[in-house]
Formats: sequence, C-alpha cells, structure tokens
Amino acid sequence: MRRIPERVVQDIVSRTDIVRIVGEYVRLEKRGSRWVGLCPFHNEKTPSFGVNEDRGFFYCFGCKKGGDAITFVKEIEKCGYVEALETLAEKAGVAISYEGDDDPEEARAAKERESLYELYERLAGTFRHFLVSDPRGAEALAYARRRALPDEVIASFRLGYAPAERSWLYRFLRGKSYSAEFLARSGLFSKKYPETSIFSDRLMFPIADARGRVVAFGGRLLRGDGPKYINSPETAIFKKHDTLFALPEAAQAMRTSSTAILCEGYMDAIAFHAAGVSNAVAPLGTSFTEQQAALLKRYASTLVLSFDSDGAGISAAERAIGIAEAKGLSARVLRIEGAKDPAEILEKKGPERLKKNAASTITCDDFILENAASRLRAGDSESKAEAFEYLFPFLAGLSSDIRRDSLMLAASSRLGADPASVRSDFLRFLDKGTIRRPAQAPVRTASDDFAPSADAELLAAIIANAELFEAARSEIGPADFDDEPLKDAFIVMEECFRSGDQQVAAVVERLTSAGLKEFILQRISDGAYSINPDRFVLDGVRRVKLRALEARKQRVVSRIREYDAERDGDELSLNDLLYEKMYLDGELTRIKEERHGRP
Ligand code: UTP
Ligand code: MN
Repeated sequence: MRRIPERVVQDIVSRTDIVRIVGEYVRLEKRGSRWVGLCPFHNEKTPSFGVNEDRGFFYCFGCKKGGDAITFVKEIEKCGYVEALETLAEKAGVAISYEGDDDPEEARAAKERESLYELYERLAGTFRHFLVSDPRGAEALAYARRRALPDEVIASFRLGYAPAERSWLYRFLRGKSYSAEFLARSGLFSKKYPETSIFSDRLMFPIADARGRVVAFGGRLLRGDGPKYINSPETAIFKKHDTLFALPEAAQAMRTSSTAILCEGYMDAIAFHAAGVSNAVAPLGTSFTEQQAALLKRYASTLVLSFDSDGAGISAAERAIGIAEAKGLSARVLRIEGAKDPAEILEKKGPERLKKNAASTITCDDFILENAASRLRAGDSESKAEAFEYLFPFLAGLSSDIRRDSLMLAASSRLGADPASVRSDFLRFLDKGTIRRPAQAPVRTASDDFAPSADAELLAAIIANAELFEAARSEIGPADFDDEPLKDAFIVMEECFRSGDQQVAAVVERLTSAGLKEFILQRISDGAYSINPDRFVLDGVRRVKLRALEARKQRVVSRIREYDAERDGDELSLNDLLYEKMYLDGELTRIKEERHGRP
C-alpha cells in the first residue's frame, strides 16, 4: 500500500473546500452558518444532512454518518483512504507525493503512469477533434448518428475518430516530443511495426477508470472486413479485468438508484445512456470478472444483466449471475424484447422504447428457472433430469439456505418433480459433482446397499433420542455421510424435525432403505442407546465432522497443488484457497483439542 506523508495530508486537507466537494454530490443550501441538503447516504425527503464549512465536517442527523472531507469521499466513493486523498488532491490542485517516492524504482513507475494518463487524455481530445471538426471524421460522425446517438451523448462519452493513415499518430506524437521508447510502451502501436498505429479509420471509444481518466480505447470498424472492435492492450495504467466501460458516466446514477446495468458492448451501454438510463456499464470484450463485480459493489447493491438474447448472451448472463451473487450483488435480468441488443432497440424503436424496456426486469431465480423449464420436453423424463442438472450448479452457488430451499421447491413444482427426490439428487450432485441420470440409477429395492456401520449406529441413536437431533444438525449434514441410505435418512430426520413429528415410528416410516429401517428398529427394540446417549451421539457427531473436514481439506490441498494462475486466476484466487486451508486447519485443531481437553 502506498502511504502519503502526514505533511502532504495536512496540505491537502487545508486546501480542500468541503462545501465544494460535498456539493458535487448533494444540492446544498445555505442556512445560517450551515449548508444543508438531502443526505446522500440514506433515503430522505426532508434534509437532515449538513455541512459545517468552518470546521470542515459533515453530519447527518438521520443516519448519523459524519466526518471530514476525506471520510466523505471514502464513504461516497466507497474507496480507501489513499484513493480518497488522491481524489481530494486532484481537486485541490496539490501535487501528491508518496512515502517511498525516494525509492527510484517506484518514482520511475509513478512518473510513467502520469505520462500515460497525460498521453491518453490528450489523445482522446485529438480523436474527438477529428470526429467533430475534421472532414476526415465526417463518415464516422455520420455513422455514430446513424446508430441514433445524439450529439450530446457523442460529446459526453468523448467519442472520436482515428485517422486512416497508420503512420499519422506516430509522427504526431513524436512531434510533441514523446520518446520512441515511451511510445513503444504506450499500447498504441504495433509491437512488430512500432511506428504503425493499431487504431486506424475507426470510431473511437475512450475507456476511463473510476476517476474518469482515459486509460485505453476501443475502436469500431466503420465498414468492410476486419475485426469489428479493437481494444487497447494492457499497459501500466490499464488492467482490462479491473475496468468497466462507462463507469464514470454511470457512477452517479448507480449510486442514486443503487442499481447498475451490465450490458455486453460499448454501443449497448451508450444506447442506454442515450435513452436516459444512465446506470449502464459494459465489460471490455471479455467476460465479466470478479474484480468488476467488486468495483460495481461500491456503487450498487443490485446488478441488472442485459445481455444479447441469443444463446451466447444467455450463457454469459448465467455466468455473470454467479459472479455477481458471489460478491453480494443481487442479480436481475433484463430481457431485450424484439431485438438483438439494446443498441438495436435504440436504433430501430427509439429511446422511449429502450427506457421502458429497461424498467422491466426479472429476478435471476426466475431467469434460471425459465432456462431450466425450457429444457423440458413433454413426456421425456430424461429431459427433466437435464433440467435439474442445469439447475444444480446454480443452487450450489447460492449462499443462502433459505433461498436455495425456496428455489428448489419452486423448481420441483415448475418442473414437476418430487421435492424429496430433487433434494436427494441435489445432495448427490454436491457430493460427486454430477448427478446420476434416472436411466442409470436403478430404483432401490428391499435388498438394498445398506450395511451396518458406526455411522448407522449414530443415526439410530439420534432417532431413538430425538432431542439430540438439534445439536447434531448444527454440526453435520446429509452430505457428510458416504452411504446413500444414511444421507437419505439424515434428510428424513431433518424433515421430521421441521414438521415437529420426531416419533421413532414417523421417522422410520419414511426411510427409503429397508435394510436401514430394519437395523434401526431392531437396535432400538434391543434397548441400545438408552444409557448415556448424549455422550455416544456427541462423539459420533464429532467423528463425522472431523472426517468431513479432512475430506474438504484434501480437496482444497489438491486444488492448491494443481492451481494454475493462467487458468484459474479469474475463477478462484490462490489466496482464497490458502485461506480456506488455514480455516480448515484451525477447525480441525479446535475439534481435536476439544475432544482431548474434555474431562
Ligand atoms: P458485439 O459483437 O455484440 O458488438 O460485441 P456490439 O456491441 O453489438 O457492437 P455493435 O452494436 O455491432 O457496434 C460486444 C462487445 O465485445 C467486444 C466489444 O467490447 C463489444 O462492444 N468485441 C466485439 C471486441 O472486443 N472485438 C470484436 O471484434 C467484437
Ligand atoms: Mn451486440
């Protein structure tokens, strides 16, 4: 983490006008010595938010948030301390310096970044000039207008035009005395032919970071053959996975609505803005990343996915839902009606229609359910299994048991399956990573695969002493048993626990395995588990739990061993795995010590 020396902090703070800073987000009115307005941190109709200019702080009587200008920027931009200071420094015109700046390597890197920001900013202006004031950009401008982009939107997104002549840019920038070495690192020129611009004769879309600084470009082909879009390569200031197109333009609208719209392309995002829907952003030609989800989480709590209505769009949406939900964003889906994508709606049906379309979204659960239902073929039970196979990975990814249960129930009824079978298939899926197709799963008969075991003894003891189930279920679950009949039994016990009927007869009656049924009835009639059942059950639960944790740890360890940053980098980070292993080690030690430490 970079640190800013205390004297620089003080310099920034003393030159910061808090009323101006807050005023960028809140309409403030002067009342006596105070400035008041509607609090940006909670919903209110009458102002309880105020700024004290002399003392340099803000406070809200409604939600009790308060602090200095740094806190304000941190809270409203959901950023860190250093980032907040950088923002304030920029606005106050203070040249910031960092501790370690005397480290020549770090200083050189910082200078390089500064030069790149300056270069990209300048270039956005140059391209813009070509588009709007140079005859060479006339065709590109006509193209943008033909795609129904109003001039205000072309201006606010700073669209531009890169001239056709491929050597023009190099000559131009060398003329502004940028060195050849620097230009080679700028991401603007071909690696093989360092004087040849990668962008030529294209409509240019500047891509900015969260603070609105241009860090890259996307360029669209106007006619003929070739890649439809070309994007800047990564540079010292541009990391594709951490960046979203239209983020600064969408920031304010995302904050006030607490919702972000994620669409597929540059044109789609701009189309939404043109239709007055200003909370739309897009990834940069790659699929949605965890980092992008984390970035959006700073502004919004809901993410609306607006992907193309084709198959690729649907599977991109499914993937994005998983990523969004894992970062705590609640996901919804906006379906584009009667067109391929939002840009086409704007073009063919107009802004009003797109705006209206943007307002009708469905929950991601409904979206997934519908996709599952679309796999059903009448009278084909195989297709039913396929529909659930589609559903299970999504269910597995949900962090809330309540949601999982209710979606599982909804799916059972929508797809016409018995909830108990769905549940047991799901547990099997969790266990093996696949589910058995009905065709391959013979119906269990009386002579089933049950064999007496310590685990079976444990379940029998719990069934005999129903009051112990509650403690057991808080430690272990059906997935912790290896034998099918025992997994099923645990599910039955759970159902009986919830319905409040834990009589031995009621539980045993529902067991599917005849062998287990017999075993339990016999053991209980023999009077087993009537002396000191607590100790027996407690030990058994601990044993099952240790075994499950060990198995989980083995899986994590082998994933760590096989970790490949190239392949897995996006999906799971090595850190998360190492953290999980640490957690499991801790749990294992804790449980083992508990056993030994017991009197
Ligand atoms: P699309 O092919 O859906 O483009 O790619 P689009 O947004 O509908 O573009 P228009 O409407 O035809 O102009 C979606 C996104 O994928 C990336 C771009 O970011 C694009 O916006 N892309 C697409 C590329 O990076 N390169 C390509 O060749 C194509
Ligand atoms: Mn598209």
